[in-house]
Amino acid sequence: MQLKDRVAIVTGAGQGIGAAVARAYAREGARVAVVDLNIESAQSVAAGINAAGGQAIAVACNVAIREQVDAMAKLVTQTWGRVDILVNNAGVTRTAMLHKMTQDQWQDVLSVHLSGSFNCLQAVVDGMIERRYGRIIYVTSAAGVLGTIGQINYSAAKAGILGMTKSTAKELARFNITANAIAPGAATPMTETIRTDERFKEKYLDRIPLGRWAEPQEVAPVFVFFASDASSYVTGQVIAADGGMTIH
Ligand SMILES: NC(=O)c1ccc[n+]([C@@H]2O[C@H](COP(=O)([O-])OP(=O)(O)OC[C@H]3O[C@@H](n4cnc5c(N)ncnc54)[C@H](O)[C@@H]3O)[C@@H](O)[C@H]2O)c1
Repeated sequence: MQLKDRVAIVTGAGQGIGAAVARAYAREGARVAVVDLNIESAQSVAAGINAAGGQAIAVACNVAIREQVDAMAKLVTQTWGRVDILVNNAGVTRTAMLHKMTQDQWQDVLSVHLSGSFNCLQAVVDGMIERRYGRIIYVTSAAGVLGTIGQINYSAAKAGILGMTKSTAKELARFNITANAIAPGAATPMTETIRTDERFKEKYLDRIPLGRWAEPQEVAPVFVFFASDASSYVTGQVIAADGGMTIH
């Protein structure tokens, strides 16, 4: 087991990629806080993990609200004594062409991805510094590298996460804390429209050299790698688990 007795927080773990990561971490022996805005889905993922012999708790939390993040981190620390691994996975899209995008659509996306990731990092980092151990995993996107039509907010947020990954890695390396990012591509509710709508379906598939979308469990092993001791000398890096979409 690669994560035996580690304590992990996975945000946005009620469905999609986050749920697959929470399950993969639990299978590797970690105790996992399944954190999500939607408590019912978080509870269902945590129950599945516990029924399979793993250890998980569900925590309701909006990562964009600092007080909720602090309460969530406190609960996890009280339950298991520490946090070793943070996966900043929670995300939303608010798609609109830029001339029609509202202030709320712009702000919502920046608040969840950028402020949410920052809030969670700050809430757990002191304990990691004290113990001289930590694994921070950010989730970026091909959108942050290549740009996307109708998603200037999301592309800006995901490009910002690349900067956060590198700054986190440089600033925390002296405390034996690594920070890396993953740019996934997976069949989840978030990508449903571009995977199923006839207007986008073929166009997007044509951009994926492997010719198909991944299942969320296919990208989870990269999250295990960045959380485990196998990546002890890897920091500030990005791995795209996207079927080759970002080859350039
Ligand atoms: N699916 C893809 O192909 C793809 C590609 C690139 C990047 N990503 C990124 O991967 C991550 C996971 O995406 P997914 O496809 O699994 O999405 P998803 O929509 O299936 O799941 C996202 C989860 O985050 C939760 N969430 C949303 N806002 C939250 C908040 N403020 N606080 C707490 N939880 C919140 C949702 O309730 C949901 O359970 C996101 O950061 C996304 O931007 C996904």
